[in-house]
Amino acid sequence: EKGGYEHFMLKEIHEQPKAIRDTLAGRIKEGIVDLSQEISLTAEELNGIDRIHFVACGTAYHAGLIGKAVVERLARIPVEVDVASEYRYRNPIITPSTLVVVVSQSGETADTLAALREAQKAGAKVLGITNVVGSSVAREADEVLMTWAGPEIAVASTKAYTSQLIAIYLFGLYLARIRGTRSEAQLKEATEELLRLPEKVDNALSDADTIKQFAEQIKNHDNLFFIGRGLDHAVVMEGSLKLKEISYIHSEAYAAGELKHGTLALIEEGIPVIALATQQDIFDKMVSNIIEVKARGAHVLGLAQDGDTELTKSVDEVFTIPQTLPLFTPVVAVIPLQLLAYYTSVARGLNVDKPRNLAKSVTVE
Ligand code: M6R
Repeated sequence: EKGGYEHFMLKEIHEQPKAIRDTLAGRIKEGIVDLSQEISLTAEELNGIDRIHFVACGTAYHAGLIGKAVVERLARIPVEVDVASEYRYRNPIITPSTLVVVVSQSGETADTLAALREAQKAGAKVLGITNVVGSSVAREADEVLMTWAGPEIAVASTKAYTSQLIAIYLFGLYLARIRGTRSEAQLKEATEELLRLPEKVDNALSDADTIKQFAEQIKNHDNLFFIGRGLDHAVVMEGSLKLKEISYIHSEAYAAGELKHGTLALIEEGIPVIALATQQDIFDKMVSNIIEVKARGAHVLGLAQDGDTELTKSVDEVFTIPQTLPLFTPVVAVIPLQLLAYYTSVARGLNVDKPRNLAKSVTVE
């Protein structure tokens, strides 16, 4: 049942190219994203949306953080992102022209469902992004966009996350087309690149040795840091959660520019820092942050794009990921972080698929 893999998590990590392909299937027609078969909101309704709220928990919340960047950049609609347990109690400003997007692999997470119901009560339409046909989210949301990752057994979510990102890209590109915020040429270019992601993920999966070695180096540490800027910040939040969840090593994910506002005090000789630098527009800023932690003795694993010559000079170890459009880098950049969590958990002899204290589906508040 584990298809020759030692754990479900590793199997599911390796299923990502397929999960992405399946989530894209049937949604691109003649090089253009078309969701009109699945989303019944009319062009008028889609044009009338004046704010979007992404609401979710855990890894799905991290997908929502990427959703904010995607929708704001592609469709120029203001977006807020909340963890569902906060959203449901904070009396958020929801109007009939708000679209609330709930993201949930299981479709049964209690807080996410409560947020969905709150939003509907306030008169908003809810779009559910879920992986389970017939789940509560799939049944109760006004609109549904399925992810086709297939069953995810390991408690640590991997293929569900990348599939959620794909659903979000599809939705962002669809919105941009309907609202006319992007030219046809730009939409085509992005859509072509989406179709190349399965191969790029495959490529990122093929080189696990650097990550295995780094897992050996961090396995006896009590603390470490992840840093990144922009989309990379959201991705390292996911990497940090994954590592905590299955290796029980404490880590924090920081927006690299925030280090000097407190956290830099924790950087001492030998502390591992994982630095993600895929965003070209803020690349130099990221390199300066890496130099700052290196100067305080950090041992840095840099994650850069193929062809990088700059970052390589300033870090101790480097893992490169295939190049893609800036908005799409999270899909490939998360791969080494998932592998790092996995191999560290294995190196520590832990129960990878069923970490202590956690359940796969959180159906109580
Ligand atoms: O089923 P959901 O997507 O609603 O679950 C949300 C979280 O409980 C889930 O992503 C959790 O954070 C994972 N165990 C993280 O790997």
